[in-house]
Amino acid sequence: MNRILGAVAASASALFLFASAGAQAASCDPGKPGEDLSFEEAQKVYDCLKADLYAGYQKGKKRWIPVEHVKNYRDWTPVSTVPAAPGFHGGRFLFTYVNEVGAAEYLKYAEENVKMPAGTLIAKESFAVTDKGKVKRGPLFFMQKAAAGKSPETNDWYYYAVAPNGAPMGVPVVKACHQCHNDNFGDRDGLGYPVEEARIAK
Ligand code: HEC
Repeated sequence: MNRILGAVAASASALFLFASAGAQAASCDPGKPGEDLSFEEAQKVYDCLKADLYAGYQKGKKRWIPVEHVKNYRDWTPVSTVPAAPGFHGGRFLFTYVNEVGAAEYLKYAEENVKMPAGTLIAKESFAVTDKGKVKRGPLFFMQKAAAGKSPETNDWYYYAVAPNGAPMGVPVVKACHQCHNDNFGDRDGLGYPVEEARIAK
């Protein structure tokens, strides 16, 4: 954790002001505001954007972020059915993947006594749709469960994020990530889960 905290401490750029880095993807614009999109319409935007989103995340040096996770996350288990915008994470539409270690546990979407196994990796893609109906690519967010005791101040979760242009995002992870996850979802090991309509049926 120190490595990650150290690398990000220098630049305390506010996460949700980062929207300006979201590059336009004109051909995928739905032409109406994000809040008016049905799940079906959001899915259409995602289908259109999918390759471009992934390609953007791959660009450039990843520095303190494990490059293989950025490369491989699409091979993990999808734990959302459609991209949904729950209002958190800057109003963005979100789509989540979990690796083999954590998928079964995550897919229970349990409400309490959750303890994700060490080695769990979670990746969450994001995009936004402006009031004018234009698509903006958003960051790729990660949570990684480290071995017990590795990072007591974040309940052994490592948090990191890659900007739409592939750059690792410098964020003060305790304040910008962990506090919200822990304060709101403490009984669920910090997990927010997709909105109910976007969860995989059991
Ligand atoms: C204001 C509260 C808030 C902040 C700040 C926040 N998150 Fe989240 N996060 C959520 C919520 C709510 C969800 C579940 C949303 C969904 O998937 O629909 C979530 C989901 C996630 C997930 C998917 C796993 C899960 O919890 O179901 C990852 C990965 C993630 N966030 C990473 C981050 C990172 C990295 C940061 C900091 C850069 C961050 N988050 C900051 C609220 C927050």
